Amino acid sequence: MKNPRLVYDIVSQTAKAIRKPVTVKIRKGFDDSCINAVEIARVIEEAGGAAVAVHGRTREEYYSGKADWEIIRQVEEAVSIPVIGNGDVTSGERALAMREQTGCDGVMIGRGAQGNPWIFRELVEYERTGALPPRPSKQEIKDTMLRHARLQIEFKGNYLGIREMRKHVAWYTKGMAGSAKLRDEINKAESYEELEELLNARIR
Ligand SMILES: Cc1cc2nc3c(=O)[nH]c(=O)nc-3n(C[C@H](O)[C@H](O)[C@H](O)COP(=O)(O)O)c2cc1C
Repeated sequence: MKNPRLVYDIVSQTAKAIRKPVTVKIRKGFDDSCINAVEIARVIEEAGGAAVAVHGRTREEYYSGKADWEIIRQVEEAVSIPVIGNGDVTSGERALAMREQTGCDGVMIGRGAQGNPWIFRELVEYERTGALPPRPSKQEIKDTMLRHARLQIEFKGNYLGIREMRKHVAWYTKGMAGSAKLRDEINKAESYEELEELLNARIR
């Protein structure tokens, strides 16, 4: 974010070197003294970028405060490539609110999808009908956690896969009765079978 020239070089050379569209994710700026998302987005467009995603926080803000959706609106006005808004979208309603407030062409969701992959069907439904679909049942949440665990283990192997599942289980079960105890227990699970047994015992 501090070096527009470098952004131009990276994007233009990448766009020349490959046949796929080059999309770029940026932030509002580097810090409060360097708020330059509009300038950087223009550079990306000029360099041949196909779309730009904007997280409405500076690098220095990390995750603090609220994402600034106004900067997303300014970027949307400044460039003609598609703009994907990002920051603090946690539901279908928030996704539509971002689109209304900023005019963005797409919405990117990060933390809102952690333990909640249903957010995507929620926002598709909300856009289509104006109503939120019912939340997943406990059984569906459990089945999804176990499927997630199988895929994670297939991808990363048992040792890492099971350990990485611990944080996901915490996200999936946030707000459920007994979830604090389950989190403690899950931290001791060493295999898929142990995880399955625990989830079957605790989530009914
Ligand atoms: C687990 C996780 C991994 C992330 N990895 C990246 C990354 O590799 N590159 C990046 O630009 N942003 C990354 N982010 C930041 C998100 O893309 C996003 O900009 C930020 O979380 C704000 O959006 P949100 O409010 O929807 O979470 C990551 C976020 C999370 C939660």
